[in-house]
Amino acid sequence: MRVLFVCLGNICRSPLAHGIFEHVAAERGLDIEVGSAGTSHWHIGEPPDYRSIAVAARHGIDLTPQRARQFCAADFERFDLIIGMDRSNLMKMERLRGGPGGTQPHLLLEYALGEDRDVPDPYCGEMDAFEACYRIIRAGAEALGTRLASGIDNPPRS
Ligand code: 4NP
Repeated sequence: MRVLFVCLGNICRSPLAHGIFEHVAAERGLDIEVGSAGTSHWHIGEPPDYRSIAVAARHGIDLTPQRARQFCAADFERFDLIIGMDRSNLMKMERLRGGPGGTQPHLLLEYALGEDRDVPDPYCGEMDAFEACYRIIRAGAEALGTRLASGIDNPPRS
């Protein structure tokens, strides 16, 4: 099972989701490969934003090995589950997808918790926006872990 988290810059929200979900999956003994990407090219090759690194570190999660990359068409084939942080991320991915082929992207909070809302972009906010972001993503990641542990999202065996 391969899961990809996607946001705009791949430096704030999706690196948090990547690190948190890797942690949650390991805690639950789930064999899942986790990745993240941004719909923009703006921060390719950069480490996560220092505020995401700090918030994750406070919760015992290390984001420093991550580097930003841009979401690309091959990701629709490479990943079994693609999870965007907000509706704008989903719209940009759907535009690139251009049709029904490959993995259909989902919104994190909708898919994991049945809540039709975005993970707010904390980029222009203060540290408290990043802490809030951590809590929202953590809740989504825990619920996603529960959903994937149930086996209903397992890709078909080939
Ligand atoms: P992210 O946040 O999509 O959660 O990584 C942002 C990062 C960078 C920018 C906007 C949002 N930016 O405008 O550079």
